[in-house]
Amino acid sequence: MTKRILTGDRPTGPLHLGHYVGSLRNRVRLQEEYDTHILIADLQALTDNFEHPEKLSHNVHEVALDYLAVGLSPERVKIVVQSMVPELAELTVYFMNLVTVATLERNPTVKEEIKQRHFGKRVPVGFWAYPISQAADIAIFKAHLVPVGEDQLPMIEQTREIVRRFNTLYGEVLVEPEALIGEVARLPGTDGSLKMSKSLGNCIYLGDPPEVLRKRVMSMFTDPTRIHATDPGHVEGNPVFTYHDAFNPDTAEVDELKQRYREGRVGDVEVKQRLYEALERFLAPIRETRAAYAAKPEQVREIIMEGTRRGRETAQATMKEVRAAMKLDYLRA
Ligand code: TRP
Repeated sequence: MTKRILTGDRPTGPLHLGHYVGSLRNRVRLQEEYDTHILIADLQALTDNFEHPEKLSHNVHEVALDYLAVGLSPERVKIVVQSMVPELAELTVYFMNLVTVATLERNPTVKEEIKQRHFGKRVPVGFWAYPISQAADIAIFKAHLVPVGEDQLPMIEQTREIVRRFNTLYGEVLVEPEALIGEVARLPGTDGSLKMSKSLGNCIYLGDPPEVLRKRVMSMFTDPTRIHATDPGHVEGNPVFTYHDAFNPDTAEVDELKQRYREGRVGDVEVKQRLYEALERFLAPIRETRAAYAAKPEQVREIIMEGTRRGRETAQATMKEVRAAMKLDYLRA
């Protein structure tokens, strides 16, 4: 049996370089080897956007374009829209019995997100409980592997706990998944903050045109202790070099720049200029593929519909087993 991958993204906007190093790169690399399903998690995005659900449809299309642009093959990969698989809602309800309030309240990623969103005491239950629905996303596809960014590790751990609990109570139906983190665990924002994030406005998007890319790279945060190009500079923890390491395949160039930087023999402008060139080499073909698909929205829609149809079949098959294991199929044939 081919092993399966399930992962996904909230359609809250176009995807950026952080998504690429964290997860997209692994998805592209493994798509031949694994039966891959990628979920556009519009219901998860809704937990945070329920007052403006109209925002979602545009973003669903944008995220699908990003998937196709980075080289996920529509022949191999099933792109699945979460809201069109109602079986996910059913499994989420069953899973709610298998998680305690205390466990949910300990989830560090959700805690952090609640803080960022200034919910205060008014956290919507849908948002607070989304790790349960994410566990259903993974479990319904019986995924073995979940390529994700580092911030998603608590979700995978939660899923593993729920799956173990389910299997112990009802029988071995579900698969305990493993997380797979990108080689570059976390890409800092262009402003040097810990993480690239839309809300911080510190992202480079996969679809950014060259002029935007140049502007974002040239205004990047570097070594704050370095004032003149002749001062010895720090390479470790310097976002410009983190990006070079992640995206510049010319390691000889990167090593040489690092050495000169440490010795105070190169200015930030040159290091950034080289980074811009490397990123442009990386992004140009992605941008081109993206534009080609963007010109054919009907074809993209069909790819999503077909992926969703096939994904739903898998979900339905799992739910049959789930109901039987839970003895909930009394009135069904
Ligand atoms: N939580 C993920 C994000 O913030 C999106 C997501 C939803 C997901 N369901 C998933 C990721 C299942 C991995 C597996 O982008």
